[in-house]
Amino acid sequence: MNHADLLERTHYCTEITHLEPGTTIRVAGWVRKRRDLGNLVFIDLYDRSGILQVVFDPVRNPDLVVLAQEMKRESVLTVEGTISMRPDEAVNQSMKTGRIELIASRVKLHSTSRVPPFHLIGDQEVNEELRLKYRYLDLRRSEMFRILSVRHQTYQVVRKFYSDNGFIEVTTPHLIRSTPEGARDFLVPSRLYPGRCYALPQSPQILKQILMIGGVDRYFQIVKCFRDEDSRADRQPEFSQIDVEMSFVTRDTLFRIHEELMAVVYREVLGIEIQTPFPRMTYSDALVDYGSDKPDIRFDLKLRDATDVLAGSGYQLTEDAIRNGGGVRGVVYPGGAGLSRKQIGDLERIVRSRGPGGLITFKTGDGGELTGSPLGKHLEPERRLQLVQRFDARPGDLICLAAGGFEETAWALGDLRLEIARRGNMTGDSLKFLWVIDFPLFEYVPQESRYQAMHHPFTAPLAQDENLLDSNPALCRAQAYDLVLNGVELGGGSVRIFREDLQCRIFKALGLTKQEAENRFGFFLEALRYGTPPHCGIAFGMDRLIMMLAGTDNLRDVIAFPKTLQAACLLTNAPSPATSEQMKMLGLKSLIENSGKKETT
Ligand code: AMO
Repeated sequence: MNHADLLERTHYCTEITHLEPGTTIRVAGWVRKRRDLGNLVFIDLYDRSGILQVVFDPVRNPDLVVLAQEMKRESVLTVEGTISMRPDEAVNQSMKTGRIELIASRVKLHSTSRVPPFHLIGDQEVNEELRLKYRYLDLRRSEMFRILSVRHQTYQVVRKFYSDNGFIEVTTPHLIRSTPEGARDFLVPSRLYPGRCYALPQSPQILKQILMIGGVDRYFQIVKCFRDEDSRADRQPEFSQIDVEMSFVTRDTLFRIHEELMAVVYREVLGIEIQTPFPRMTYSDALVDYGSDKPDIRFDLKLRDATDVLAGSGYQLTEDAIRNGGGVRGVVYPGGAGLSRKQIGDLERIVRSRGPGGLITFKTGDGGELTGSPLGKHLEPERRLQLVQRFDARPGDLICLAAGGFEETAWALGDLRLEIARRGNMTGDSLKFLWVIDFPLFEYVPQESRYQAMHHPFTAPLAQDENLLDSNPALCRAQAYDLVLNGVELGGGSVRIFREDLQCRIFKALGLTKQEAENRFGFFLEALRYGTPPHCGIAFGMDRLIMMLAGTDNLRDVIAFPKTLQAACLLTNAPSPATSEQMKMLGLKSLIENSGKKETT
């Protein structure tokens, strides 16, 4: 038998349901399962499209049955055969190809497989480290191919959208000078300039602004960014952004274009219509009402201030907070009066981890009476009634209060609000986009007694707050914005500073001397002197957007070769030690003993 032509497929395994029975086709893929019924052998062959049942029949083709009987899982085959209808009793409604099967006439076994370390079928939870180590096997799972396809489609839609709207994609370099985005840089030591390093971009922020000075006018790029920061579930050290910059437009135009982008992406990728324009909320309202800078507005549960109701009660915890300039704020847990002491303890831990000394809880009884807190003894009936009214609490609800400074109680109750919604399944499946605007320009770093830029130092202050720059930087608001979807920060950007004098004032407010500013950003300050257009921009976390589109809550699932939370690649064992020759060539010496010997595991 000549098998030389048994390589290329004519069809993917499941893209044959439109073909007539009796049609001869060739499919190629992996063996998922073999069932040997003695006289007949069935093999489930799969490729990225799904599974097809292949039948080996001893009457028609005895040679092949012998081969099929020895076929191991994950062996790689090309099979030629004819499509046949399954007998009624063998129809499998849950499979796309469940009504048909392929009667094999020729087979080529290309390669065999070791026994895979985990099951590639079904929804079984597989240890993630194993999945990452054997990523090629993990990628064979249909769910992973579905997510990669969503990613691919999103890339195509995004690129077409920007191109259709007059943006051009410009590639910026990865070996650059440091760009400040608040994380540590990944450094690449230079061989030609011993002792010097390139920094991998935390974002192409300065370069895209320079593109505006260069007259590009509308830029976008799907770009890799690198940040050496503490890992979190929604962060990767190496991630992708949709990066954008525009000249001569207002913030509102940028918003409109990107509302349209989101609408087009959801329509083209998922067939879902979303409502535009998106609502807007100031950072300050977000913190007051939702205890978050990225509020999930799929459910209400707003925070309320109860300081006035409780002031003067004589209860130490609340009195101390009020005396120290803070207050008492809270959120209602609908139906939470029935929670056990342990369940309330779990809620309290969430609050304490953000700073407040404890959680005060009141259960609302059938008659609207409050029970369950030592604070209750300190409150006259009138105040209790006020408290119930303040939180619109109904019988069976639990009022949760935290006492302390404004910020700490806000963040604590914001976390609590999310936990209450999670437990109560309050999120539903809607999509709630939100622009959060007017962020503070600076945040204070008490450990270092200095301010740092909340977004980045190229963000313009609100015009009416510019005079606060020198007198009261803490109160100065920025023309910065984030796009939030269902409580996830999808993107952020700002209107930029385009005057050199204002840029220098910001560097000064950040504690940089003239010389330091010149050393770090001299090239950029120089560029600003040559006719800079007013400009603004934004960047979206591509991986986060795909995570939302694909309906997964694990950022690593949407990246083909992600890093672990410890920033390691388990597939390639990166990072790996540099050899002593490499170190020498780069002019480097390690302070870590035996650094060249220990492999990362
Ligand atoms: P920012 O730092 O807010 O802004 O980043 C923009 C968006 O990128 C995503 N993102 C991340 N995604 C995965 N892993 C990470 N470690 C990570 N860090 C950020 C988030 C975030 O909203 N240059 C500015 C943008 C601008 O001003 O135009 C910037 O990078 O979704």
